[in-house]
Amino acid sequence: MMNIYLIGFMGSGKSSVGKELATSLGVSFIDTDSYIEEVTQKSIPAIFAEQGEDGFRSHESDALERLSTKEAVIATGGGIIEIPENKDIMTKNGIIVYLHTNFETISKRLQEDENRPLWNQDLDKRKALYERRLPLYRQFAHYVVETDDKEVETLIHELKEVI
Ligand code: S3P
Repeated sequence: MMNIYLIGFMGSGKSSVGKELATSLGVSFIDTDSYIEEVTQKSIPAIFAEQGEDGFRSHESDALERLSTKEAVIATGGGIIEIPENKDIMTKNGIIVYLHTNFETISKRLQEDENRPLWNQDLDKRKALYERRLPLYRQFAHYVVETDDKEVETLIHELKEVI
């Protein structure tokens, strides 16, 4: 098996769906944010504060490189599509599935979240970020799965059909 990379905006369910999918496939689950926190021994907000978004993005690309030899379900951070080369790293040994979720659903799920520096800003900026990224997720994705109003079980079923 190759890696299955889940991409999508913050709050689209990459981690919760990813864990269930990994269990159901009998492979390990890796979350790139947790991996980066473990390697750096720093929280995501601390990395953003100390090294800026660019610093965080380079940790993220390093993590993808290091994880590229695994056979796992990998939940990526919402900004993985900001670096075009990340697509090549993931495509080398995996398939990329975009979990698409509407902005309204995401807003309800996340509300206020201080652990996500790029969500922790004005509504207009959140919305602009979401709109700007939409086409990028589609450019990266081999498959798109609609997640709104679906139970995790249904999503797992749909994911298993496409992978
Ligand atoms: C980010 C999303 C976060 C995390 C960081 C930056 C982004 O991951 O990587 O806060 O740029 O959208 P989640 O998508 O898991 O929230």
